[in-house]
Amino acid sequence: DRTVKIAPSILAADFANFGAECAAVERQGADWIHVDVMDGHFVPNITFGPAMCAALRPHIKGVMDVHLMIAPIDPYIDAFAQAGADIITAHVEAGPHIHRTLQAIRGAGAKAGLALNPGTPASAVASLLDDVDMICVMTVNPGFGGQKFIHSQVEKIRDLRAMIADRPVHIEVDGGVDPDTAPLVVAAGADVLVAGSAVFRDGSVTDPAPYGRNIAAI
Ligand code: DX5
Ligand code: ZN
Repeated sequence: DRTVKIAPSILAADFANFGAECAAVERQGADWIHVDVMDGHFVPNITFGPAMCAALRPHIKGVMDVHLMIAPIDPYIDAFAQAGADIITAHVEAGPHIHRTLQAIRGAGAKAGLALNPGTPASAVASLLDDVDMICVMTVNPGFGGQKFIHSQVEKIRDLRAMIADRPVHIEVDGGVDPDTAPLVVAAGADVLVAGSAVFRDGSVTDPAPYGRNIAAI
């Protein structure tokens, strides 16, 4: 379905309290929880891996949306699927055999997402639209939360929605999504909005009211 979903990114949450943070944003209306996995190689930052996803799983009622910013990907797919990832998103730039990677993700029982860096054109995924459940358009360069939304990507979202046509494929937008940029990407055809700092910046888990305000504003 094409109702817009909000997927808070725990990259902006309290790293010592992820379980409670996930529960808090779900109480405030989060649809999915977005989990940013970084390897210090594909992107210049390191976060966490499958063991963290497995530990989080009991604290997430809804969809666990795992964004892999790692290379290589294939050796780790089964571990993330077994950790309970509902969606596993791979970057089209992360290796030469992305089609095989997408097949492996579906073969492991997860939905397959495909992410594009800001410098990668929409045409890079044209041959893969029947092999994915979601396209993730990066509207910042991956690696860090709290960066400025890159406006040139809105046209890419529009192009991708036209290319996807009537296929049941989500378009997720990741990076710099806030109450100002969210309407632009939804108008262009996005239906899953990742938001890290916009959801978590004004709140703490002991004072959950700001989360609700922020999710509602997006
Ligand atoms: C960036 C991550 C994003 C990030 C979004 O590499 O993939 O999910 O956490 O954070 P904000 O919303 O702060 O740009
Ligand atoms: Zn992400």
